[in-house]
Amino acid sequence: MKYGYFDDERREYVITAPRTPLPWINYLGSEDFFTLISNTAGGYSFYRDARLRRLTRYRYNNSPTDSEGFRLYIRDGDTLWNPGWQPVKTELDAYECRHGLGYTVITGEKNGLRATQEFLVPPGDNCLLCRVTLENVSAGKKTAEVYPYVEFCLWDAMDDSSNFQRNFSIGEVETEPGVIYHKTEYRERRDHYAVFWTDAEVKAFDTARDAFIGVYGSPAAPEAVMNGGCTGSIAHGWAPVGAVQIGADLSSGETMSFLVGLGYIENRPEEKFSAPGVINKAPARAMMDRYRAPGAFDAALTALGQRWEALLSGYRADTGAEKLDRMVNIWNQYQCMVTFNMSRSASYFESGMGRGMGFRDSCQDLLGFVHMIPERARERILDIAATQFPDGSAYHQYQPLTKKGNLAVGSGFNDDPLWLIAGTDAYLRETGDWSILDESVPFDNDESLARPLLEHLRRSFNYTRTHMGPHGLPLIGRADWNDCLNLNCFSSQPGESFQTTGPSEGPVAESVFIAGMFVKYGRAYTDICRRLGLTEEADAGDAAIAAAEAAVLSAGWDGEWFRRAYDAFGNVVGGKECEEGQIFIEPQGMCVMAGIGKETGQAARALDSVKERLDTKYGIVLLQPAYTGYRLELGEITSYPPGYKENAGIFCHNNPWIVCAEAELGRGDRAFEVYRRTAPAYIEDISEIHRTEPYVYSQMIAGKDAPTFGEGKNSWLTGTAAWTFLSVSQAILGVKPTLDGLMIDPCIPGRVKGYTVTRRFRGAVYHIRVDNPQGAEHGVKELYLDGKLLQGNVIPAQSPGTEVSVRVIMG
Ligand code: GLC
Ligand code: GLC
Repeated sequence: MKYGYFDDERREYVITAPRTPLPWINYLGSEDFFTLISNTAGGYSFYRDARLRRLTRYRYNNSPTDSEGFRLYIRDGDTLWNPGWQPVKTELDAYECRHGLGYTVITGEKNGLRATQEFLVPPGDNCLLCRVTLENVSAGKKTAEVYPYVEFCLWDAMDDSSNFQRNFSIGEVETEPGVIYHKTEYRERRDHYAVFWTDAEVKAFDTARDAFIGVYGSPAAPEAVMNGGCTGSIAHGWAPVGAVQIGADLSSGETMSFLVGLGYIENRPEEKFSAPGVINKAPARAMMDRYRAPGAFDAALTALGQRWEALLSGYRADTGAEKLDRMVNIWNQYQCMVTFNMSRSASYFESGMGRGMGFRDSCQDLLGFVHMIPERARERILDIAATQFPDGSAYHQYQPLTKKGNLAVGSGFNDDPLWLIAGTDAYLRETGDWSILDESVPFDNDESLARPLLEHLRRSFNYTRTHMGPHGLPLIGRADWNDCLNLNCFSSQPGESFQTTGPSEGPVAESVFIAGMFVKYGRAYTDICRRLGLTEEADAGDAAIAAAEAAVLSAGWDGEWFRRAYDAFGNVVGGKECEEGQIFIEPQGMCVMAGIGKETGQAARALDSVKERLDTKYGIVLLQPAYTGYRLELGEITSYPPGYKENAGIFCHNNPWIVCAEAELGRGDRAFEVYRRTAPAYIEDISEIHRTEPYVYSQMIAGKDAPTFGEGKNSWLTGTAAWTFLSVSQAILGVKPTLDGLMIDPCIPGRVKGYTVTRRFRGAVYHIRVDNPQGAEHGVKELYLDGKLLQGNVIPAQSPGTEVSVRVIMG
């Protein structure tokens, strides 16, 4: 069942029923000011950091769900309604929500009145704008009272939801006609306030929630609205809100339109006040003036459109398969940009108060956005590298506001260092900008320890090289990519961290997965060394890699698939001898992507085992059989009920590894089949089962052992975005940046006759046409550059500014 449809022309997903299985959200903003907004106008705004600079309040585990947002109440006679349906939930005569790239438009209609809320964060500014348009579509006259409403958060979202003894006494506001300033804590150390305003003529306002909603009132029936109007309340403590009352008198066919804004303003310390206790409003007034100008809102909308057009023009496929094209050209790239902006901080599943930027997460996210914003990718790499420790290990997480490593979690996730090589290698391939390796970057954020980025990569490589266990496989530490496989931790008390409790390091627990990474990204490192003339280092590195590869093929090979790990007692994890958790997806994907066992048959055998044992109709599960009970020696993975999360859920993030691995073996039919299963546009029809947004990936889909098989969770902020984009754009459609140029290496279903891709690469544009006359799944027979036959399938980088045409014949 569907709850809407894709409008590819406008690059929108159009939701046609407000009762989606879960709130379906969008992200507005791509610089400093962000808003999450759902299809019923639920959501919240923050400046830079969702925990420390939260402008509006949001309650995650509330019932009904999605109960706070950017509300517009319309009182028309006896009928109270919202164009977004929530929170009043009056049945609407018509409803539509269009989530577009950086904007959302919600339209509702009731009793002959149509109301539209157009939301966006204007490029270059720190505010959310909502243009409200009311249209009388009835035959008679309409008189209504309209109330835009938000509830302020007292800035630190964590403190706001716990420290009530203080917070109920500190709320403060100032008001002016049509403007409400939220200035809690501005009197002391804060240099920022929020401004909620409208350019409509305002009859009255409220700033105290108790007055507008009522102490025992409900957002579904605010007392002020029910009693006929705002009361002019001033918040002294408790819960400051912004509510204004606007009259609408419309004759038949008439429309009126006004703007509602929510801005973030910072003042220099010496300019905080215009009079004792009175906030300096000059910058807020300047902001409001910017959007009072006629045409300003439309100009922001146009600028937004141009920005996205430029971002998405770097990779455009025309395959004739509309679901594939809309994923590749629009939604997958859009989601990659959202992961760039948000990392794992703020979604409808991540509260914005928890982890900051993950070291491994951010390195992998790079793989998905480096082609769109190479300069910002460069900066991101340097930020991440600065949180590495001198021994090559890394803080697992860091805070975006301070860019400092997070001490509470610390280091010891032994896959982390290698992801830095992966991200940097992707950047080098994309840009050819070798100067990044010379950039001086601190270790542990300590400038005195700064060394060139190349030295960071070296220490990453050497960290793994020098932390090998008894089978010659890398030591796992607290965990590898799978945060929940905690082989050294042994947590037995509820509430303890599974990752950081216990020894966390051990002399014997080893990871086959990290070994696969070491082969794949270690080779990327030695390749870089060789090109820099560091031949001896490259040779020594390759020897270490060869040893790891041999260890994978002996101690890491179970006969029909790659094992997962050895635990702290030297027992196999992910092998036939295990009662549960016999086979895991991660080493099959990573080891085959690394080319291990490609010549000798283990690679193909391992992928066949994945198909036989882990495939389901909704995607590939992480492991089988699921763990039925908690095991101290394995940790968090066994804490989840069977079929959820890492315990045999369909962890979408590693499905594309299998796509890439299948492509590595040239199996195009299977690669695409795996891709299709989890691709949102392909499962739109089962939205009632999948529940999360049909335009973006979720971290996890419940596996076949779960009672809710097929149900998605944790949408938006997941490494799945980057990896699926990589898998479809590079492994399947085969347009791969390499250090030597752009490689064309398609691996597609044999039935596909051909397709085109337009790719921007190092400043030049490549119009690529692939023909597949013989129904091949893989293999390039001929490649023509501007009509001239080229040797091999790598096109040397063309001069910036040029456009070339490339014709590829498979076979
Ligand atoms: C989450 C984490 C990611 C981890 C994965 C598997 O998605 O963000 O870092 O690799 O779970 O545990
Ligand atoms: C939990 C989750 C995992 C995530 C981790 C982040 O372990 O199961 O997916 O990566 O938390 O800390």
